[in-house]
Amino acid sequence: MMAAPSENESGNDLQDRVEKFYEDAKGYWASVTPTVDGMLGGFAKISPTDINGSKSFLRQFLKISGGSLMPNRALDCGAGIGRITKRLLLPIFDTVDMVEQDQHFCDNAREFIGSDSSRVENIFCSGLQDFTPAEQGYDLIWCQWVLGHLEDDHLVKFFQRCQKGLREGGVLIVKENTLESDKRAFDDSDSSYTRPKWDLEMCMINAGLKVLSVQKQKGFPKDIYPVYMFALQ
Ligand SMILES: C[S@@+](CC[C@H](N)C(=O)[O-])C[C@H]1O[C@@H](n2cnc3c(N)ncnc32)[C@H](O)[C@@H]1O
Repeated sequence: MMAAPSENESGNDLQDRVEKFYEDAKGYWASVTPTVDGMLGGFAKISPTDINGSKSFLRQFLKISGGSLMPNRALDCGAGIGRITKRLLLPIFDTVDMVEQDQHFCDNAREFIGSDSSRVENIFCSGLQDFTPAEQGYDLIWCQWVLGHLEDDHLVKFFQRCQKGLREGGVLIVKENTLESDKRAFDDSDSSYTRPKWDLEMCMINAGLKVLSVQKQKGFPKDIYPVYMFALQ
């Protein structure tokens, strides 16, 4: 586990390490421009492929395609300025809420989203480790390119709160970078972990989530991490 105490580490040292993990990430994102390129670390060009891949993965779960998912209310987690809210969720769902830890992204989101931002009901400025989705509040909860910013215990508990936040027939979708090796990698520039796929799946299983479907995103450049989509309940 990421935050397991190392040899001779006291409880206070562990707490300091976890605090530093979150504080360093905050510091990194506070310095990033509120643009799609900023959200994607200079890879704005992959955004249309990403959104199209997400749309086709999501489609199978929608009521209109024979699934259980009503297109009523969605939650975008680690939403940044609302790239996914604007391009994926608002075209499908009646209303969307966003949760994002960085204040300047939250402040810029409505302008970035434009006129449809009237259907964004809430923008919660909070770390996911401290956030609880409204119980049975959402048909869809979408988490993308953010969960490497949570340490394992917080991630498992967050998954459990998401499960409670789903309405009947609702789905939690996770879309994250993964590693093909057996060990996770730490990026000290933005203070995040990239987990191997099995490691991320362990967190899902430990949270008691059921995996409905897993798919690899196609069409991304060869030099970026493999990205997987997981549909969960
Ligand atoms: C790579 S960007 C992705 C943004 C958005 N999901 C997208 O795909 O366009 C990561 C986002 O996660 C946010 N973030 C980082 N740590 C977070 C945390 N602990 N809780 C919530 N959001 C966090 C960052 O501020 C940033 O907006």
